[in-house]
Amino acid sequence: MSGPDPRDRPGGGTGSLTPVPDADDHADDVVDDHADDHADDPLRWWREGVLYQIYPRSWADSDGDGIGDLRGIIDHLDHLAWLGVDGIWLSPVTPSPEADFGYDVADYRGVDPRYGTLADLDELIAAAHARGIRVLLDLVPNHTSSEHPWFAEARRSRDDPRRDWYVWADPSPDGSEPNNWVSSFLGPAWTLDPATGQYYLHNFLPEQPDLNWWNDVVRDEFDAILSFWFDRGVDGFRIDVCHMIVKDRELRDNPPATEADHWIDQLRGQLQTWNSCRPEVHDVLRRWHRVAASYDPPRVFVGETHVRDLDVMASFYGDGDQLDGAFNFSLLPAPFEAAALREVVEGTEAALPTDAWPVWTAGNHDESRYPTRWAQGDPGLTRCALMMTLTLRGTAFLYYGDELGLPDTELTRDQVLDPVGVKFFPVAGRDPCRTPMPWTAEPGGGFTAPGVEPWLPFGDLAACNVADQRHDPDSVLSLCRDLISLRAAVPDLREGSYATWPDAPEEVFAYRRGGRVLVALNLGAGPATVEGVGGVVRVATDRGRDGERVDGRLELPGGQGAVIWLDAPAS
Ligand code: GLC
Repeated sequence: MSGPDPRDRPGGGTGSLTPVPDADDHADDVVDDHADDHADDPLRWWREGVLYQIYPRSWADSDGDGIGDLRGIIDHLDHLAWLGVDGIWLSPVTPSPEADFGYDVADYRGVDPRYGTLADLDELIAAAHARGIRVLLDLVPNHTSSEHPWFAEARRSRDDPRRDWYVWADPSPDGSEPNNWVSSFLGPAWTLDPATGQYYLHNFLPEQPDLNWWNDVVRDEFDAILSFWFDRGVDGFRIDVCHMIVKDRELRDNPPATEADHWIDQLRGQLQTWNSCRPEVHDVLRRWHRVAASYDPPRVFVGETHVRDLDVMASFYGDGDQLDGAFNFSLLPAPFEAAALREVVEGTEAALPTDAWPVWTAGNHDESRYPTRWAQGDPGLTRCALMMTLTLRGTAFLYYGDELGLPDTELTRDQVLDPVGVKFFPVAGRDPCRTPMPWTAEPGGGFTAPGVEPWLPFGDLAACNVADQRHDPDSVLSLCRDLISLRAAVPDLREGSYATWPDAPEEVFAYRRGGRVLVALNLGAGPATVEGVGGVVRVATDRGRDGERVDGRLELPGGQGAVIWLDAPAS
């Protein structure tokens, strides 16, 4: 991509309303021992970057239909430049009947008219690049929509040339499903196609038939889809359900779950032995990596690797020849307590191959938002969670609204639209994390025109919105922006190694980044002291402490954290 490097934007792009520590404030921090090592790394932006996930339906509605769109994103890119992010990931904008809100794709090379046109997407990519912001799209290769023309052709007859693009099997002798596989959304993973007398596989909704990744023509088609978007300037992809795309060729029954297994496996009644994490998925990832590497600069892939075992997650990096990043699904469900977080982070650091680069996120469009899930509404813990996400070693992803500390929005049953919510309300459902971005407290929330009903209801606009937080130097938004700015200015925060700080009190998650940075988060309710700290507080969750000197004892009230610039390089 051409265009400015985000790191060339001291203090952000469009004028600062809050006292952001700009590059000059950190002049003494910029002891960049590694700068030359990485100067030529074309993926440096990715490794050091902060990326931002946009759920397009919910970010900004330019045409007043209550649904966000591409023009709305273009109009609000300055927010992201101001925030200082290096890239965006857009959840799918491809044409979709929306059985699963975009994750049921009916055309891999188009733009859904709800969101705009291909020309709008081209314009968005150019406008983002002009601000030094890269663009990742969402690839959904595990399944298509049942309304994709490929599936319409495939179900015409058993002999149709398209038939083998999907996974079909004869009924069992008693007419039931071909095997015992259960969908990720629960219920059988097979649906009978009465006209042709066979079942088709769907690891999600019946409206999402699984593609057959044993078919070389399917593999060729997806290579071409990748090139189609890379040629348009797309910088990479988030890969949906990355770990599941190849299934056991013999469609063997999954073994039953036992009481010793994870509660999700118990709920499903089986382990996903034969329909997930099959070794052959790595062949596909290596193939995609070759496509991405053939571009200059190389394109990136980050996978939705929804696995619990850290070694399995690490396997998706291969030998640097598969994914550039694997989302870490061990962190998201962890309790927000020092011991549990430390265990995941240390385990991740230990599991990853030497050159592999971690990816951290506090949420996404499938999870309860972090201020609700982790912080349970506690403002101090919300700030600590943001500080952690932006200071661990690795690429950081924010989900839209994270920069505001936006909590889940509670919905009534009749407001629920997500198929998971429709089936499992109030136990599960993803609408609470998908409600519209609160830009202002005005009618329409700055998201849509006043008087227009948004596709999902707003949360408490007055309590949490961009406009108010931009003017408040003590807001979560200001904290977020200042942490991103600090990260951009301090090499240790971008690329320094991770080391757990020895002897921190049990309730404090404390770690060193590189030689000179300490991050300490007191996640307990009462005060705690970290001993042996000499340095200066650069950014604290209590902004009144920014700039404070620490001589030996770092005192942290409960639910507070700080990033410290240490006096002496730690060995
Ligand atoms: C991924 C997506 C989720 C979707 C599912 C099926 O998990 O993140 O939103 O429902 O895949 O495509």
